[in-house]
Amino acid sequence: MNILVTGGAGFIGSHTVVELVSAGHKPIILDDFSNSNKSVLLGLKNIIGHDVDFIEGNCNDEDTLRKVFKTFKIDGVIHFAAAKAVGESVKKPLKYYELNVGSLIKLIKVMAEFKVTKLVFSSSCTVYGEPDFVPITESTPRKPANSPYGNTKTMGEDILRDTVLAGGNAQFISLRYFNPIGAHESAEIGELPSGVPSNLVPYITQTAIGARESLTLFGDDYDTPDGTNIRDFIHVVDLAKAHLAALEYLNTVPSNFYDVFNIGTGKGYSVMELIKTFESVNDLKLNYKIGPRRTGDTVKIYGDVKKANDVLKWKTEKSLEEALADAWKWEQKLAKK
Ligand code: WQD
Repeated sequence: MNILVTGGAGFIGSHTVVELVSAGHKPIILDDFSNSNKSVLLGLKNIIGHDVDFIEGNCNDEDTLRKVFKTFKIDGVIHFAAAKAVGESVKKPLKYYELNVGSLIKLIKVMAEFKVTKLVFSSSCTVYGEPDFVPITESTPRKPANSPYGNTKTMGEDILRDTVLAGGNAQFISLRYFNPIGAHESAEIGELPSGVPSNLVPYITQTAIGARESLTLFGDDYDTPDGTNIRDFIHVVDLAKAHLAALEYLNTVPSNFYDVFNIGTGKGYSVMELIKTFESVNDLKLNYKIGPRRTGDTVKIYGDVKKANDVLKWKTEKSLEEALADAWKWEQKLAKK
């Protein structure tokens, strides 16, 4: 299948491009590099062995989208392109609503014009807010998001659901990610946070490489076994493979279809457990200190992923140790660039 991958030069998008090619599909990347880097295209070529079709452009522009659909015969779309910094979204809500919601609406409209019905949407476990119990299933009620970023994911899901409910040929899936970490084993692609990383693992690897003085652990007085938050950390390659499984599943569903899937490991690890695992698997001592809690952090969240296992015939294959070893290998490669 010819698959449009919006945001395909990004962290999850680039890893998904690799899996699409290895499964015999032809990805077409649309990216404006607002939150990625052209070097990713070289990394992809080094892994795949040839160039990937690519158009530089903004997904929130209908003419750009039409140009892509006119240039390539698109069979399906995976929509990653979005702004994703939780903290920034609180300061600049309009940027997030305009880009994240606007681009999805335009994409759905242009897809309909070109009679392209298959769409996999990048959603997030953030739609669950602070769950009353864990692990959470897809029928766990969503809660008001605690950031405009999170709200754009909730709204995105509702836009997809309501478009399908309105009838017509539309086959949509929302994938609710937990915490993607790690990098491709080749260390040719990985996470490229812009500026000071807000996410845990890139901050850890930058501290370990000496680019950051020390990691601040945001609170160890939570109601959890070791006092630190619990998360579902999933290797980005496992997450990438879930997109492939979702896309291929869409070839088997009715012409009017919508569903959502949790994509995680189904296991919760604490921040402290992750730090200790990073130290042992990479045989190093991490410089970290305990700091105050970060506003908005959920205490514990991890997914029940039985539905994705059963319906998408997908499950995680990589361990936390592998993800943290791959993340470290990638950081060391970046330091050599
Ligand atoms: C994880 C844990 C922090 C940094 C966010 C988004 C979510 C998704 C994944 C896009 C928390 C702790 C972190 C640090 C720390 N993004 N931490 N020191 O907040 O679970 O999820 O990224 O879809 O939507 O909300 O990820 O990596 O920021 O934090 O102690 O320097 O690590 O307190 O407990 P989070 P995170």
